[in-house]
Amino acid sequence: PKEKGWVASHLYQYQGFWYPVRYLQGVISCQKHFHPQDSDIFLVTSPKSGTTWFKALIFALVNRKKHPPSKINHPFITHNPHDLVPFLEIRLYSDNQIPDFSSMPSPRLLSTHLPYVSLPESVKTSSKSKIVYLCRNPKDIFVSLWHFTNKLRRQEMGKNSIGDVFEMFCKGITLFGPFWDHVLEYWNQSRGNPDRMLFVKFEDMKENPEVHLRRLAEFLECPFSGDEEESGILEGILKLCSFDNLSGLEVNKNGMLPSGEENNAFFRRGEVGDWKNYLDDGMVEKLDRITEEKFCGSGLVM
Ligand code: A3P
Repeated sequence: PKEKGWVASHLYQYQGFWYPVRYLQGVISCQKHFHPQDSDIFLVTSPKSGTTWFKALIFALVNRKKHPPSKINHPFITHNPHDLVPFLEIRLYSDNQIPDFSSMPSPRLLSTHLPYVSLPESVKTSSKSKIVYLCRNPKDIFVSLWHFTNKLRRQEMGKNSIGDVFEMFCKGITLFGPFWDHVLEYWNQSRGNPDRMLFVKFEDMKENPEVHLRRLAEFLECPFSGDEEESGILEGILKLCSFDNLSGLEVNKNGMLPSGEENNAFFRRGEVGDWKNYLDDGMVEKLDRITEEKFCGSGLVM
């Protein structure tokens, strides 16, 4: 089934989730051909959850010996986080490519927006690779997504109204949506498998970054040593990956990803609660109600 005219391209439903048609080939190809290694680290998100930020955090964390955060020519100066931690379905397997992983350093840092149901079977059954699932509250996700999709639309296409996008979002018809099902699948998986999957919230990282970066490091089996803590490596990583720092780098202000988005489209405000500036009472009430109904009994609160 297809639903017309929401983003630049139409969305198609596959295995219960909605995709722009141009991503479908990559999704299917990666399901067929991808083979994980035990040391792989996957960052999984629903779009607009803070993927770019966490790509940077994970890269900086895992590579901190080789590239200390204070390094003058840190890879972030010349590379956008999406280049350093590529998406499987959008980047590596897009356009029918079979990627060459031979030059990718170990551990391989990979990312995906795929819902759990559509992850390659080889990833689901791999016992040692690690999955970090990042989620964010649906009100900020929605506002971020609305801005993002309007930014991607060519001028002659006009803008999507917030009301139209809202109705689609609530029905689940959104990039890699329904949003709630995406989150819930991973939440349920993470509860049975804490060594394999870490479930993190954007809001928690914002509120208590040191605690959550430490937790991430422990999960990825690269905990901070006492020496590192003393010499400010942890703070250095947080600063390096901060919204102000990343969004101010030339490489992120200019340039384009191979998938066609401008690098700067991934940096807008980077705050919690910007939805208050856009959603009316009825929208808030509706989103809260759907969230409550969907997450009821799961133990997940947002
Ligand atoms: P806003 O539109 O609310 O500002 P994704 O990377 O998954 O596409 O998510 C993009 C969202 O993450 C945007 O949210 C963007 O501004 C925010 N973001 C990007 N870099 C960030 C950072 N370093 N710290 C916090 N938020 C960041």
